[in-house]
Amino acid sequence: MSAACTIVPLAARPDLVPLVAEWGHATWGHLAPGDTAAKRAGRLKRHLQVDAVPSTIVALDAAGVPVGSAGLLAHDIDGDPRGPWLASVYVVPERRGEGFGKAVVGAIEASAAHAGIALLYLFTPDKMSFYASLGWTAIEARDYRGEHITVMTKRLG
Ligand SMILES: CC(C)(COP(=O)(O)OP(=O)(O)OC[C@H]1O[C@@H](n2cnc3c(N)ncnc32)[C@H](O)[C@@H]1OP(=O)(O)O)[C@@H](O)C(=O)NCCC(=O)NCCS
Repeated sequence: MSAACTIVPLAARPDLVPLVAEWGHATWGHLAPGDTAAKRAGRLKRHLQVDAVPSTIVALDAAGVPVGSAGLLAHDIDGDPRGPWLASVYVVPERRGEGFGKAVVGAIEASAAHAGIALLYLFTPDKMSFYASLGWTAIEARDYRGEHITVMTKRLG
């Protein structure tokens, strides 16, 4: 993990809602036709709370520059009643490989544990080894929205 990483709740930095929405839309917007960064920003306004579902955290580098984020959602797969879910894990391309991804995942895990959540889910099309290195276990593979995804879980605490 980068020693120079500060994690802040989006609730403490609502000015970053448009930036986090842009990151998410640029990365995953194609999976939801008709979605826009502005609509995503609107949904993120419900994330302005701490250690609760839904919420979002942001990683800042040593200079205070936002470099990544992650979210905690009640549901992340249409029709799947399980949850809550670690979602929207993102680090800006130019700062990958410095530990920020690990930091934002760990921050959501800690926040979920504070909220009394014992088991977290996530799904990923291609980052299984990243999450496995952070203690996550693959429990199923399936097709979803045109992608082959793996559902993973991690027991907290
Ligand atoms: C996945 C992502 C968040 C990783 O962020 P990062 O800051 O580069 O990750 P870190 O530097 O914290 O890496 C943590 C560990 O995972 C490993 N890792 C990082 N990216 C990996 C990848 N794509 N595949 C396998 N392992 C990976 C690192 O080598 C590191 O291992 P180490 O602790 O043994 O050195 C980043 O690449 C990203 O934003 N990708 C685009 C969005 C995305 O795919 N998000 C996940 C959606 S499910």
